[in-house]
Amino acid sequence: MPRENPRNILVTSALPYANGSIHIGHLVEYIQTDIWVRFQKLQGNSCFYVCADDAHGTPIMLRAQNEGITPEELIAEVAKEHKADFNDFFIDFDNYHSTHSEENRELATEIYTRLRDRGYITTRTIEQAYDPEKEMFLPDRFIKGSCPKCGAEDQYGDNCEACGATYSTTELKNAVSAVSGAKPVNRESEHYFFKLPEFEEMLKQWTHEGHLQEEVASKLNEWFAPEGTDEDGAGLQEWDISRDAPYFGFRIPDTEDKYFYVWLDAPIGYMASFKNLCDKSEIDFDTFWSSDSDAELYHFIGKDIIYFHALFWPAMLHGAGFRTPTAINAHGFLTVNGEKMSKSRGTFIKARTWLDHLNPEALRYYFAAKLGHGIEDLDLNLDDFRARVNSDLVGKVVNIASRCAGFISKRFDGQLSAECSEKELYQDFVAQGESIAQHYEERDFGRAIREIMALADRANRYIDEKKPWVLAKEDNKEQEVQDACSVGLNLFRALMTYLKPVLPQMAQEVESFLNAGELSWDALQQPLEGSTINKFKPLIRRVEEKDTDALVEDSKESLQAVTITPAIETKQKSSSNTISEAIEPIAEEIQFDDFAKLDLRVARIEKAAPVEGADRLLQLTLDLGGEKKNVFAGIKSAYSAEDLRGKLTVMVANLAPRKMRFGLSEGMVLAAGPGGEDLFILHPDKGAKPGMRIK
Ligand code: 2FM
Ligand code: ZN
Repeated sequence: MPRENPRNILVTSALPYANGSIHIGHLVEYIQTDIWVRFQKLQGNSCFYVCADDAHGTPIMLRAQNEGITPEELIAEVAKEHKADFNDFFIDFDNYHSTHSEENRELATEIYTRLRDRGYITTRTIEQAYDPEKEMFLPDRFIKGSCPKCGAEDQYGDNCEACGATYSTTELKNAVSAVSGAKPVNRESEHYFFKLPEFEEMLKQWTHEGHLQEEVASKLNEWFAPEGTDEDGAGLQEWDISRDAPYFGFRIPDTEDKYFYVWLDAPIGYMASFKNLCDKSEIDFDTFWSSDSDAELYHFIGKDIIYFHALFWPAMLHGAGFRTPTAINAHGFLTVNGEKMSKSRGTFIKARTWLDHLNPEALRYYFAAKLGHGIEDLDLNLDDFRARVNSDLVGKVVNIASRCAGFISKRFDGQLSAECSEKELYQDFVAQGESIAQHYEERDFGRAIREIMALADRANRYIDEKKPWVLAKEDNKEQEVQDACSVGLNLFRALMTYLKPVLPQMAQEVESFLNAGELSWDALQQPLEGSTINKFKPLIRRVEEKDTDALVEDSKESLQAVTITPAIETKQKSSSNTISEAIEPIAEEIQFDDFAKLDLRVARIEKAAPVEGADRLLQLTLDLGGEKKNVFAGIKSAYSAEDLRGKLTVMVANLAPRKMRFGLSEGMVLAAGPGGEDLFILHPDKGAKPGMRIK
């Protein structure tokens, strides 16, 4: 039954960059948003969930160059992968688009033009690091050098991973471009700025009108000039929205070689994806975006991108005459087993790797159980994950159905009792729906799950007390057996209704099992009486330790195939997580015993050949003085196969073999350099012989 006055709601999740895979850190947000949207739809509200790939910017341009493809080809490939991942995690977007789209070009141009015409854009010349070889300006994270404070080498951008110092990139010692290795020079260029300070008063008010979580609002106060200060430089600063060619993005109107900075057109991508949806349906764009819109607009984001969404974005929208968001819902970061996700520990888990080993709904359930409305980080502890899924979903919820369904099917031909024999108990379950709904609405999913599990405990207690398996053996207790199991299944139906936003696939299977239409809060008003159920099939299987072990093992990305990962990949920030993808062991201090474990050997490259389907790999046959090893090395960007044949190099000979898509890799060759063309394999001095151990 549709509700009266359904709300008009538009919801977005942050747009993932189009140059990397979706991982479980991203999934916190997509799962959180998807649960909320499914809940709204179940309540009969008109709710649309849109997203897109964030396709512009320097990292994407350089990555495409590295792979020898166009940015358009790269983003098309990544979009395919992202869509498949989201689909398999049951993230049900109403539309998934790209920021590199005509709709986005038009909207970005329109918003910029309106801002410019209203006097909110200014230009000035600034000095910036420039790579004279690659002939491009360098964003901070593409400059590396030694930390000016502690001297740690290979620090990128403006902060040191070793000592935590922050500085300007011009302070880095021996700075080089991470793209070409050239020494950066300073060069001037004219940039376009959005006059954010003009919105200081508006934002001061807006950030305290209930659109933000309290902790977010108070944090943002730091950016405003304190009351009574009129000192220059205090408060919000003008925002640089242009980048010089070469850049993958939209050209700024009336310029030859200036492009919108990726963060200018990224949030506009929310509108563009929605516009794309409107154009293929009956939905009216202006109802949601005009300045007097009474539709609701929610952005779910990670806490690392609050500044863009809670300051720049409302200011841009307001300045350009559009409505501002109803709320920005920020969440915390994900840790795994209490630590930052790590490739070497196997806890940097890609969505696809998860799907290869585990049930996506188990992750949805676990995240839901741990999510609140705040911005605290949440931890995926794999032992706790197994225990909770097994105890709650397998042991409590599904157990109710599997205990009751057999009796109903075998003894009553699938038919439930004509009347629910425990009206009061059932009504308690229905009544609880209101507070569970309230918790969903407020994004207190953990509280909703706790209440649902308390109901599941009650349902199990009821069955334990009734003991249908004992009654079934007694004479003249048929009606009691049917009644108890029918009540059990009605309680199960209520539980699965409440879990439906979290477990959409399982809910669908339960709908066909119960054979009584779609599960919804409204439908629960009426218990199932006299209807016939279908045969019960197992809904979920236990998560075993070997499953999570295999997940971690498969996520361990050793250095074998990639040697030293290029900076532009390791430093690409991920959407909902500021997880550094740097390969940690390089920086960690190790004991002598750890070092002694390495079997470093001189090897002769006997054969070298490109690998079909792999852009960066060469397949090497390495001769260790008789023993041969097959190694896939990510050095094709720097060497041709011919360059290498017959050369001596150094390899780690005792790395556990690793199964790759192309075959077994049995070790790793050592190389140095930032990556791309600047990768140098190590050669031992003359006189070295294949097989010699390096000490
Ligand atoms: O931080 C990120 O991953 C960005 N791609 C998020 C963009 S969200 C929005 F503004 F488009
Ligand atoms: Zn340092």
